[in-house]
Amino acid sequence: MQRDDALLRAYFEHAPEDIALEDIDLGRMPCHVSIIMDGNGRWAQARGLDRSQGHVAGVDSLRETVTTSVRLGVDALSVYAFSTENWKRPKREVDLLMHLFATTLVKELPLFHQENVRLKFLGDLESLPKKTFDVFKQGLDETADHTGMTFALAVNYGSRSEITRAARLIAKDVEEGRLSASQVDESVLESRLYTAGLPDPELLIRTSGELRLSNYLLWQLAYTEFYVTDKLWPDFDRWEYLRAIRAFQGRNRRFGGVVSS
Ligand code: IPE
Ligand code: IPE
Ligand code: MG
Repeated sequence: MQRDDALLRAYFEHAPEDIALEDIDLGRMPCHVSIIMDGNGRWAQARGLDRSQGHVAGVDSLRETVTTSVRLGVDALSVYAFSTENWKRPKREVDLLMHLFATTLVKELPLFHQENVRLKFLGDLESLPKKTFDVFKQGLDETADHTGMTFALAVNYGSRSEITRAARLIAKDVEEGRLSASQVDESVLESRLYTAGLPDPELLIRTSGELRLSNYLLWQLAYTEFYVTDKLWPDFDRWEYLRAIRAFQGRNRRFGGVVSS
């Protein structure tokens, strides 16, 4: 992805002591970064605020993260915003989140235009409230021609339901004679996942310290490097992002082979 050097340096001025742009090898950026944005509720509760205020504050982190990804030349950024299990939350919180997704997307569309970002959604959008669905559809249509970074928002996403859906789609193709069972290989399955067309994430970041996947991208994360930070999502910023990339660049990725020297 094209990087603008002057913009990049200005964006990362005034670095904190422990991390700076110079610590990063710009020639070895992960092509796809994925983030489990967790800890909004705890951030709010620690301040005596309602959980919803944490979600609102989380939008600022997400905006900064999109911009940081574009500045660094990351090809794809995906983020987990709402899981298939999150419907279990109080209706008030679910309603607030659905409303926030719609209003935020409308507000941020100019940023996607300005930065040439193409939107993609991961998850079952059909069961979202109509307003949210309509805005998502508008976002997809308006950014379809953009050629810069892909930004994939996982909403009503669950990995098990994604894989089950892919199996169902394949079964239907076999049943109706478009595919034979012996043709079903990894690429056939991948092409039926919501992430079809995206490379697997190279780096997964999870905020707020939890050491679990919470039903996120179980197939796609097979060989992904993990970076877990105790920072809560509303506190995540460009510097923590650089720390994650520095950690990623320090890893020895073997993919089941032997150590390269
Ligand atoms: C992540 O923050 C946002 C969503 C899951 C929608 P949480 O709401 O899970 O925040 P915590 O984990 O309760 O602090
Ligand atoms: C994972 O966070 C889902 C999202 C960030 C959207 P949760 O807060 O729902 O995960 P658990 O419940 O801690 O596993
Ligand atoms: Mg959580």
